[in-house]
Amino acid sequence: MTEGELNREATTESTEESVNATEFEEKCCPDADEAEEGLDEMLKELVATCQTTPINKLGGYEFFRSLGSPKYAVAPMVDQSELAFRMLCRNHGATIAYTPMLHSKIFSSNVSYRQRFFTTCPEDRPLVVQFCGNEPYYVLKAALHVQDSCDAVDLNLGCPQRIAKKGRYGSFMMDHPEKVYQIVKTLHENLKVPVFCKIRVFDEYEKTLQFAKMLESAGCQLLTVHGRTRIMKGKLVGVADWEVIRKLKQELTIPVFSNGNIRNFNDIQECLKITQTDGIMSAEGLLRFPGIFSGEDKDAFEMSREYLQHSEKYNTHYTWAKDHICKMLAPVVESHQQLREALFRQKDYVSLRKQLDYTEEMIKSNAVEPDPTFVRIRTPGDIFENFECNFMFSPDE
Ligand SMILES: Cc1cc2nc3c(=O)[nH]c(=O)nc-3n(C[C@H](O)[C@H](O)[C@H](O)COP(=O)(O)O)c2cc1C
Repeated sequence: MTEGELNREATTESTEESVNATEFEEKCCPDADEAEEGLDEMLKELVATCQTTPINKLGGYEFFRSLGSPKYAVAPMVDQSELAFRMLCRNHGATIAYTPMLHSKIFSSNVSYRQRFFTTCPEDRPLVVQFCGNEPYYVLKAALHVQDSCDAVDLNLGCPQRIAKKGRYGSFMMDHPEKVYQIVKTLHENLKVPVFCKIRVFDEYEKTLQFAKMLESAGCQLLTVHGRTRIMKGKLVGVADWEVIRKLKQELTIPVFSNGNIRNFNDIQECLKITQTDGIMSAEGLLRFPGIFSGEDKDAFEMSREYLQHSEKYNTHYTWAKDHICKMLAPVVESHQQLREALFRQKDYVSLRKQLDYTEEMIKSNAVEPDPTFVRIRTPGDIFENFECNFMFSPDE
């Protein structure tokens, strides 16, 4: 086998514009520090147009049961929980799915952003559309665009990234409980569908409990708790705290999803047992193994091909498709650097498919030796801190 074969390059350069939600946001994201005039008045006018809202819409457990009490949730993931991936996961055990986070201010005003980053189909249910934002006006305006195509709208209160700090949203809104209360209440009172929230935890349990209760009183109908604090990301990712989630669950009257530390089906069962929550949300575990909720082993190459069927059907940009394939195949090619890099270099669907076939042939016929320098990070006892290190292209949330 020659180096050229291993490093098969794409022959066709894609002419399509690259799709990346964060880049899009950076280009047109307004500075969050600039106070905007007239938002209260605009909100009043918008609320006046929401006359169709049924005041007796279902909430809490009644609503949850009406969805079939979905236990297994595909997490919101920027540039990763797109329609094709959601459909793949639904075929393999997921019973509810979240869209990637959408920026409410951009979504409410930019048609191109809406078309690129929000796609769905009738089979894509139950569906939760996630927004971030810091103003009730924009979050409501954005949510009104999607309320007829989803089952609930979720407010992102967990994103710890720099861009969220700059835009004052995600976990940075947990420092502004009054504003969060207004946003959730506005959505609750004016949307046809229920509002959900997703949070991280504070260092102090009491503060987390107070925040969660505030959300409940504002009208939040389902809470996802990612059991890590805001600083627990990247190298500091650490272990999610299931004990905090367990305690919160006991105090709340709405359904709760646990999030964090899910590597396989056993973890799912263990987490449900310990936290007693109503469901589990998975992100990284699903990216690596979209069948994690099924409890069955599935061939990574078959899974990748099935994903490609969905992604071509729904016109998914090849960069997202490539990222998914690389993550799904990570466990089988982790010790084969050249195969990994060759997959990552592909630039369109045709070359990606060819490289997938080639990789499978090489791996299954044992035609390639593992890199002599490769060291598996996973150890017996499997330390959670190292979990994310096993991913080739580990995202930093
Ligand atoms: C690629 C990627 C993108 C993410 N994007 C979002 C997002 O859009 N909204 C959000 O609330 N969380 C986002 N997260 C965080 C996950 O939803 C989840 O809370 C976190 O990864 C912990 O769950 P896990 O241990 O199952 O990975 C993202 C995570 C990853 C890996």
